Formats: sequence, structure tokens, C-alpha cells
Amino acid sequence: MTMLNKPVGIIGTGSYVPEKVLTNADLETMVDTSDAWIQERTGIKERRIAPEGVNASDMATEAAKKALEAAKLTAEDIDCIIVATLTGDMAIPSTACLVQANLGATKAAAFDLSAACSGYVYSLITASSYINAGLFKNVLVIGVEVLSRVVNWEDRNTCVLFGDGAGAAVVSTVEAGYGMLGMDMGADGSGGMHLCIPSGGTALPPTTERREEGLTFIHMNGQEVYKFAVKTMGKTVLKALEMANMKVDELDFFIPHQANTRIIKSAADRLHLTEDKVFINLPKYGNTSAASIAIALDEAVRAGQLQKGDNLAVAGFGAGLTWASLVMKWC
Ligand code: UT7
Repeated sequence: MTMLNKPVGIIGTGSYVPEKVLTNADLETMVDTSDAWIQERTGIKERRIAPEGVNASDMATEAAKKALEAAKLTAEDIDCIIVATLTGDMAIPSTACLVQANLGATKAAAFDLSAACSGYVYSLITASSYINAGLFKNVLVIGVEVLSRVVNWEDRNTCVLFGDGAGAAVVSTVEAGYGMLGMDMGADGSGGMHLCIPSGGTALPPTTERREEGLTFIHMNGQEVYKFAVKTMGKTVLKALEMANMKVDELDFFIPHQANTRIIKSAADRLHLTEDKVFINLPKYGNTSAASIAIALDEAVRAGQLQKGDNLAVAGFGAGLTWASLVMKWC
């Protein structure tokens, strides 16, 4: 089985993180935690926090502008915008529609995609399928989160983990032999309650009482999500490699979802990847959910760590529970 009939890949990336840094030392003054615990259990040193008034659509727009510039395209060249997020500005309109208006991408269809931390990879796969089918030429994919607004700042189990930011990529047709070669995506809804925001949808609309009970914040069974992540990460990459007809030792670079360095190391060990092949920026940003791989990819590209012809794997996992991975030959 091959992934696509046409060569489709990423032709430009961009990212945006807010300036405000919240360090582990800052968190020590807010909840009963320590820099040592956070670093030892997660690898996180600091995270970025969006100021009041800066929303998901604003950060997504900034990241998108940089991706368009890198792709040497204008907003008018974009046929579709997909925004992966669990912290969009509003229930409706979609954040993608707000970004479409901000950019002036008047020819673009626009919609949000809900797959939590796997959302960016789900969206890249969706975008490449549209292009492969001949429906669109250029698709803008954005992963963005303002998790600081759905985190309970009194819950040390979760508040130390998350951060805000955005990353974007332009997906288009590329030179033959390059681009996306293999993918894997899946879900296990039976584990959905291990990572959820109970109130905010239509099942439990947010009321003052529910807010006070903390039901509008992220609730996580950390150990269950950890076990799921360790079990899933290596497996999903191996499946995508199989579709790409590629062996693990042919991989040059791996960008995993940035949630926990212990999870990343266990996936890297399972894939027998040496440290120099694995990109980690988690210490600077914490877990930015749908934005994490998008920001990491842009940083790796801008730092010159990815060269044309490199075999790259990206892999995400998260709420749903969901997972997704992609193997591509970088162009
Ligand atoms: O994007 C996907 C989303 N989520 C994830 O990927 C998260 C996956 N899970 C994890 O990364 C880890 O489970 C955590 C980092 C969340 C927690 O690490 P852990 O090694 O699984 O710790 P634990 O939950 O077993 O807690 C160990 C202890 C507990 O104390 P007791 O009961 O042993 O006395 C916790 O109360 O650590 C305590 N603890 C903390 N201590 C200091 C929990 N959070 C903190 C904290 N500071 N922030």
C-alpha cells in the first residue's frame, strides 16, 4: 500500500510563541511543586503564556504568515485552512474561519479539526489527501493552543505540564520522490475520559457551579495517558515506516509530540534512534498539544537541522485517545 499517488509535502513552515515565560520557579510560588520534580518527571523547564486578549486565532495567524512567507506564497494562493486545536477562540465560528479572515485568504475553505495533541498530524494527513485527490493545490495546516486558559492553576498534576503557542505548515505538491510516504492514524475512544475537559460542550454546559467544581479545566489520569503513550508512540511510527517501505535505520530525524522527555526517550529506544536524531524543545515550551510538533518542526527547519532528502518521522498522541504519525522525505 502506498500513501499517495502524487508527491505531496510541506513547502513552508512557521511558528509563534507568546513572549511571557512561566518558569518552574514561578510555579513553585503557585502550587506545591518543585523545579526538581517537574524536570525529573517531565523534562519541562518553562512554558509560554498568552497574554489576555491574545487568542488562538491571533497566534495561528502569526505562525501562518511565516509559513506562507517560507513557502513563497500569498494568502490568496491558499485553497483550504485546517486548524487543529482544542482551545479555539469560540465554539463557532471555527478558528480556521477567523484565521482565513485575518489573512485575507478569500479563496480558502476553512475548518477546525479536533484530535487534541494528534491534531496537527491528523491535519497534515487530511491536507495531503485533499491534494492527492485533486481537490486543492495548497493547504495551510495550523496547530495552535491556549492551554493556559483551560488549565486549573491550583492543580499541580496538570498546571505544570502545559503551554501556549502555534505552528503552521503549507502543504502542496512537491518534486517526485519527496514528501509524504507513509502514515498511521487511529483512536481508542474507550480511553477518552483519561484526558478530558468535562464541561464546556453541550453535555455539561459551563455554569458557575461547574466552574467552581473545576469541570471546565483539563482533567488527566497522568499514569494511564503515560502508559498509552509509551505503548503507542513506537508502534505508530513503525506502521508509518512500513507503509513508506522504509526501515527504522533509514530514518534521519524524529519529531515526537513534546509531552514528556521520558515518553520521548522510550519511543526513541524502541525505534533504536540515537539522541542526535530526536528533536526535543519540550524544556522551553512544555506540552503545547496540537501546536507541539508544528512548532518543533519549524524550529528544526529554521535551525537547518533538516536537509533536503532527509527521512523524517513525526508522531503524536493525546486526548481521544488518539495517535497519528507520518513519514516523509524532506523537500
Ligand atoms: O499530550 C498528552 C497529554 N499528557 C501526557 O502526555 C501526560 C502523560 N503522563 C505523564 O507525563 C506523567 O504521568 C506525569 C508527568 C503527569 C506525572 O508523572 P508520574 O511519574 O506519573 O507521577 P504520578 O502521577 O505517579 O505522581 C507521583 C507523585 C504523587 O505523589 P504521591 O501520591 O506519590 O505522594 C503526585 O501527587 O508526584 C506527585 N505530584 C507532584 N509532585 C510535585 C504530581 N504532580 C506533582 C507536581 N509537583 N507538579
